[in-house]
Amino acid sequence: MPIPDSFLDELVSRTDIYDIISGYVRLTKRSGSNVFGLCPFHGEKTPSFSVNADKQLFYCFGCGKGGGAISFISEIENVPFRDAVEILARRAGMSVPESDADKELSEKRQRILQLNRVAARYFYETLSSPASQAAHRYITGRGISKAMVTRFGLGVAPDSWTLLLDAMSKKGFTRAELIEAGLAKPGKSEGGAYDVFRGRLMFPIIDTRGNVIGFSGRILGDGEPKYLNSPETIVFNKRRNLFALNIAKKTKSGMLILVEGNIDVIALHQAGFDNAVASLGTALTAEQAHLMSRHVSKVAIAYDTDESGRKAVLKAIPLLEKTGMSVKVLNMGASKDPDEYLKNNSADSFRLILEQSDNHIDYRLLTIYNSHNLTTDSGRLSYLSSATALLAELESAPEREVYGAKVASIAGVSPDAVNSEVNKKLAIKKARQKKDFERSVASPTATMQPGDRSLRYNNEYSAAAEEGVIRSLARDSALMKVASEMDFSETEFTSEFLAKVYRALAKRISDGRDTDAALLMVDLEKHEAAQLTVILQKPEAAPNSERTIREYIEKIRTERLKTLNPDEATLLEIKRKKEI
Ligand code: GTP
Ligand code: MN
Repeated sequence: MPIPDSFLDELVSRTDIYDIISGYVRLTKRSGSNVFGLCPFHGEKTPSFSVNADKQLFYCFGCGKGGGAISFISEIENVPFRDAVEILARRAGMSVPESDADKELSEKRQRILQLNRVAARYFYETLSSPASQAAHRYITGRGISKAMVTRFGLGVAPDSWTLLLDAMSKKGFTRAELIEAGLAKPGKSEGGAYDVFRGRLMFPIIDTRGNVIGFSGRILGDGEPKYLNSPETIVFNKRRNLFALNIAKKTKSGMLILVEGNIDVIALHQAGFDNAVASLGTALTAEQAHLMSRHVSKVAIAYDTDESGRKAVLKAIPLLEKTGMSVKVLNMGASKDPDEYLKNNSADSFRLILEQSDNHIDYRLLTIYNSHNLTTDSGRLSYLSSATALLAELESAPEREVYGAKVASIAGVSPDAVNSEVNKKLAIKKARQKKDFERSVASPTATMQPGDRSLRYNNEYSAAAEEGVIRSLARDSALMKVASEMDFSETEFTSEFLAKVYRALAKRISDGRDTDAALLMVDLEKHEAAQLTVILQKPEAAPNSERTIREYIEKIRTERLKTLNPDEATLLEIKRKKEI
């Protein structure tokens, strides 16, 4: 379903990356042709995110994200390539031509979304039928109000093998469509199928645009599995969505409450907290954290208070922090989850713990405290060692001081003792960073490797020269003449990734199209675009010229000679002599 190259070329040429990015990031510091601001993709206090208007590229020296305008939009809006193109096209007053395959897919998606919507309505209506007494009793028993049933569009899947299938085929949906939507499974007999959700309380999962993308079904009472969720389908991606975000995104509170269970979400909304969301039966993902940060700047975690919930909190904190949101963790005392808390306490008291709850540093210190026995000397020492390690990770000196004092009083030692321990650890950390930096300067090959593991170079020396060939050609496509004179070919690349970039570049040059860096990005995956940005930003070893590219190609061949058997080596030597 490719978008025509000519369209992308036109789009990129009509788009100014500086304009686009300044809509998201305050670009303040100028240095050469780069303008810097705080990176929107990771939390930071000093700007390492750069935009280069000449090359139409962005690059963050902190987190390594980079690329052109399309990659930027795709990254920041958390949308696939195609949608990013659409967003930029709209801005540029262009409309994206659709290929046949595209049309087919988007029609198919529309169809599945429509089916999901009709199915959700069916589940909702089934709840009012006399046959659904068990579901009614369950909902009432859990204390869920009628208003919440309506707000969340809760329903029930009838306890039968084909009632949904039958009802949906009456509405004109095919068996294949129900299977594709994850609502039915093929049966053993030819052409047969059966309903996936049977006798379950149904929670429609609705994305922020209002589409019903899937379902969660909870068993009515006890049994296994407790929840059944829609599989991944062409419209449903668990990692990129959150339950109830369609409602919670409208909150005026500036904050989201992140919980584990669908029932917890509903209990909170019912108690007046319109900002509760849950991840969809999986651990929180970076995509979900990012999605949350597009709507709010604060998040309060209220996971279950059992062992696995506490572990999940510690995993979620760094993901949420990275997006720049401020993170706190609720202390619900002995209650096992928000639902239970609200059964035992008032909404006001929940509001109080929401206001007073610990930020994530307190929370992590408490976790360390709970895992040590402070009545013994060795326990206290080991507590101090873990707690000071955490303190040494904190970026801000006042934070280190405030929390250092807390740790000191808990461990029963003087603040000075804590400070000196933290300083020792800080010094070790700084020394390590300095060494890393020096090593990277001393030996270029150590920094040669792409940040993304899948792109790693096997031969860094050859790869350095291969990058040089690409840089030269991207800057001056006329240099392709030199490469052809030398019989240089794509097969000489040792890096698969660089060969791919070269292929795209060579194709553009032979088609007589522009080779602007931003245009090249169009032919690449996100992580590849980021790496290409790095390569194009590197300073040229020698001024750009026919001689430079010739030297790069020579270098690639020298490296290759080292790996060849004698016969191949002789052939290559002959080829080289011919040139000289
Ligand atoms: P209650 O125990 O009824 O209060 O349910 P809950 O909504 O609080 O759910 P729970 O805390 O047990 O689980 C949290 C979330 O994990 C649920 O909302 C589901 O998304 C997911 N989950 C729980 N059990 C299962 C299961 O058996 N299978 C799958 N796939 N997901 C589950
Ligand atoms: Mn729960």
